[in-house]
Amino acid sequence: PVQVKKICCIGAGYVGGPTCAVIALKCPQIEVTIVDLNQARIDAWNDKDFNLPIYEPGLEDVVRAARGRNLFFSTEVDKAIQDADLIFVSVNTPTKKGGVGAGFAADLNYIELATRQIAKVSNSSKIVVEKSTVPCRTAESMRTILEANSKPGCRFDILSNPEFLAEGTAIDDLFAPDRVLIGSLQTQEGKDACESLRSVYANWVPTERILTVGLWSSELSKLAANAMLAQRISSINALSAICEATGANIDEVAHAVGYDSRMGNKFLKASVGFGGSCFQKDILNLVYLSETLHLPEVAAYWKQVVTMNEHQKRRFSKRVVDTLFNTITGKRIAVLGFAFKADTGDTRESAAITLIRDFVAERAIVNVYDPKVVEEQIWLDLEESIPQPLAATKKQVVIHKSALEACKNAEAVIIATEWKEFLQIDWTEVYKHMNKPAFVFDGRLIVDVPKLTEIGFKVTSIGRGDKA
Ligand code: NAI
Repeated sequence: PVQVKKICCIGAGYVGGPTCAVIALKCPQIEVTIVDLNQARIDAWNDKDFNLPIYEPGLEDVVRAARGRNLFFSTEVDKAIQDADLIFVSVNTPTKKGGVGAGFAADLNYIELATRQIAKVSNSSKIVVEKSTVPCRTAESMRTILEANSKPGCRFDILSNPEFLAEGTAIDDLFAPDRVLIGSLQTQEGKDACESLRSVYANWVPTERILTVGLWSSELSKLAANAMLAQRISSINALSAICEATGANIDEVAHAVGYDSRMGNKFLKASVGFGGSCFQKDILNLVYLSETLHLPEVAAYWKQVVTMNEHQKRRFSKRVVDTLFNTITGKRIAVLGFAFKADTGDTRESAAITLIRDFVAERAIVNVYDPKVVEEQIWLDLEESIPQPLAATKKQVVIHKSALEACKNAEAVIIATEWKEFLQIDWTEVYKHMNKPAFVFDGRLIVDVPKLTEIGFKVTSIGRGDKA
């Protein structure tokens, strides 16, 4: 097997950046170059004050330790490809917006362009690693493209190495992964390539956590893992609706259910709905795959996980309107949190966006506060999701610099993201400055309900009925 000395990562995003920065940190003998077409993103990775393009706890320390030593960020894609023995393809694979499979299938255009670029500029053999989440059998298409366009004497071995990090805990996940999964063809060449990548991870990951499987199993495992994680959230959220109608309490139900050792207690928190760039996209991808394989029942089964999630968000905004005497027109609503979850600045598919869109449609005034998401991003997301000119939205939405400020003169506070700082809110102070009756809607089950009720708030929590 080739001993890897130089790595190139195509795509300096949420996955490529942290993943390859950690490889560089843990493997000082390997030179790692992360490339992207997006100049602004690369400039931010190279920023002298370390204002990096993504927020992730611990990431700055990793980049500080390795950047300039054996970690480089660049827009010189061709050169980095030529120099490398191993190339990670970590480009975006969003849901297709038009054409065949629109709304479900993954858009593989970025993967294909990156693959063609590798074929075009490579002067030596490479191990090409799919890091992006892709539909099952994408590696085959990549191989066909590479082989049809390669120069004589260049060999390409393709591996699948999906990434299981979770945003918000990416660095911890990368330092101590539950598992690293490597898929390869079961030929001698495939196994050798697999061994080359395995020995990179072996610098810090215990051998028993590095799983090696066939290419197609590896590709499908990533979709399967995300589908099953999201399914767990939709399951608990479906039960939260029953709790609200019966007087059962979803936290108590989750606690009781999670004690079953076959089930485990993680990832059983009811909420306003899952967000993030991956869960929905990957399930829709699985739905599309099932349909193309003529498995309509399988497709419908997974589709329901997404349908349930949409329902949960809708149900929550409807409950806000219902509770506020069936109208929020002209009322001020404070939305705390805009990121799709705590400890990330990522807003892709964030539930907060759907809620704000619904409140704006009801002609409410919405005050927004998030500790990490920049104002520009909030406007971009609202422009994309609200079907009216941004200028009109700006008349209804105000972005604030603190939770307290956002809550001033509001009729209701909505907790949309479980940021730790929301646990420390001085609710007595908030109460003083709100219109009465003052409502709190906890979309993340983080507030101390008895305490807030004692202050005077009317608290509504997911999965807890008014009958409770
Ligand atoms: P991203 O959008 O943050 O980053 C992708 C980057 O690739 C962009 O900066 C883009 O400019 C660059 N790019 C696209 N085509 C290029 C080309 N031909 N040459 C150079 N650069 C190019 O996406 P993110 O979130 O990093 O996701 C990447 C992949 O990883 C996706 O397939 C996603 O499903 C998967 N994934 C994402 C996770 C997450 O938490 N965000 C977790 C696990 C997997």
